[in-house]
Amino acid sequence: AFVIAEPCIDTKDTSCVEVCPVDCIHPGKSEGQYDEVQQLYIDPDECIDCGACEPACPVEAIFPEDEVPEQWKSYIEKNADWYKLS
Ligand code: F3S
Repeated sequence: AFVIAEPCIDTKDTSCVEVCPVDCIHPGKSEGQYDEVQQLYIDPDECIDCGACEPACPVEAIFPEDEVPEQWKSYIEKNADWYKLS
């Protein structure tokens, strides 16, 4: 699956949402511990690895799961957790 990392925070361009063919990218909702969510997340169970979102993001916030930069590896879990808890 693809993962959205830190550059999305406060940018939330949403170009990625428009190009996703399976509609698996969603904004944070105001719920529980995610009250202050500032970015969008990709649902790893819905993502079909098409890669359309990666070049669509103007701030390069999107990475294939196995290419997420070291400092943003926690976002792999953050994206997945969002869908487990919502
Ligand atoms: Fe965020 Fe980039 Fe999508 S800023 S909302 S990951 S296009």
